[in-house]
Amino acid sequence: MSDLEKVLAHIDADFDNALDRLFQTVRLKSISTDPAYAGETRACAEWHSRDLASIGFASEVRDTPGHPVVLAKNHEATGTKVLFYGHYDVQPADPLELWEGDPFEPTIATLPDGSKEIRGRGASDDKGQLMTFVEACRAWKAVTGSLPIPITLMLEGEEESGGVNLPGFLDAAKDELEADVAMICDTNMWDKETPAITTSLRGLCAEEIFIHAADRDLHSGFYGSAAANPNHILARILADLRDDEGRIAIPGLYEGVPELPDSARKSWDGLGFSEEEFLGEVGLSIPAGEKGRAVLEQTWSRPTCEVNGMHGGYTGDGFKTVIPAVASAKISFRLVFDQDPHKIRTAFREFVRARVPADCRVEVTDFGSGRAVAFEVGAPAFQRTQQALSDEWGKQAAFVGGGGSIPVTTMIKEKLGMDVVMAGFGLSDDRIHSPNEKYSLTSFHKGIRSWARVLARL
Ligand code: BES
Ligand code: MN
Repeated sequence: MSDLEKVLAHIDADFDNALDRLFQTVRLKSISTDPAYAGETRACAEWHSRDLASIGFASEVRDTPGHPVVLAKNHEATGTKVLFYGHYDVQPADPLELWEGDPFEPTIATLPDGSKEIRGRGASDDKGQLMTFVEACRAWKAVTGSLPIPITLMLEGEEESGGVNLPGFLDAAKDELEADVAMICDTNMWDKETPAITTSLRGLCAEEIFIHAADRDLHSGFYGSAAANPNHILARILADLRDDEGRIAIPGLYEGVPELPDSARKSWDGLGFSEEEFLGEVGLSIPAGEKGRAVLEQTWSRPTCEVNGMHGGYTGDGFKTVIPAVASAKISFRLVFDQDPHKIRTAFREFVRARVPADCRVEVTDFGSGRAVAFEVGAPAFQRTQQALSDEWGKQAAFVGGGGSIPVTTMIKEKLGMDVVMAGFGLSDDRIHSPNEKYSLTSFHKGIRSWARVLARL
């Protein structure tokens, strides 16, 4: 038996223990956006650091002004040096009443077709995914006494909440993070049989706006029409964000957005994407957004502007005839190609201010931003990862675009000058960020086996 075969057999034999370890981290409520969970977020970092130390990494919990970063290193082997990134923080679990079980008490559910899934917040995004890589390292270490290549792991605790402290961390730890290539396990497969390497991600620009009108809530009978209503002002702003063709109407927004190159269009057309199935899976059937553009093009290579939350006036039970003093909305832009998040923020603020009467006031809060990123796949690390994934899944791994954002990817490319190979085993129905998040048991098992093969190929 080759070393790799022994490692794969070890992974199969140790799988129940791998699951137990995943359950341990899912139980820790590392909700980075909510200060009430700062202690448990740190406890989760400490758990991962201890776990990595137990398999021979020199591992530390590094403080930042926010949540800590776990930095672990084992450079005993020679060969291609890999920097692996994952995030141990998770999204809030609410609305809690929509979960079938406790989001932080992971379980394994068996579906009618006999397939199994791991349920819990972070089961997929990103604890299940990052543990596929850790378990592959553990298996190599257990079987051969060492890792096959030098590896550094960096586990972030603020990915889901803007990650404002990561750029500073990367600058300060630049020398320690030096490697030949970076790898991330935080993306999806093409479908449940076809592995994928994501070669582009969209950037992000997030902003909350508050429209302040009168200095108190008013009786809508005494003041209606005469006093500005911030809900109406906000609604107008939000409605104006897109024109009838679905284009974003903010001046200058499409600066730096070229038409998709023919090569990418051809390659994506070849994937056989079904818009009907994609929307059907979430109970919809009519593509929204920019007219005349395919869904895949819209989500992978066009900017979007989405209202993620809005609030104003009385939203409790019953009814209250009130004109609120303030209304607010959380709005995010996904960015592509060379769009500049700072220019877009400025243009958006001007767009908002131009629609607010002179006796009212706008307040804005910056919730972070990052540029889009894309990689050419000619470098050996992409090819070898593709081969390793294809070996494990028995199907050629696809190169795909990505609609989400993983801000560190752009920073690794720009600050550390490395390619980032994004191989993930999530599925589009994992319900990440939603109630009843799950990770398929097959994703977890074959994900671990996939990384074991990637390490061998590298
Ligand atoms: N893992 C996701 C992003 C993702 C999922 C990319 C599936 C490709 C396929 C990531 O954790 C995430 O959700 N990121 C946030 C970042 C934001 C809060 C800064 C996002 O995209 O909304
Ligand atoms: Mn993630």
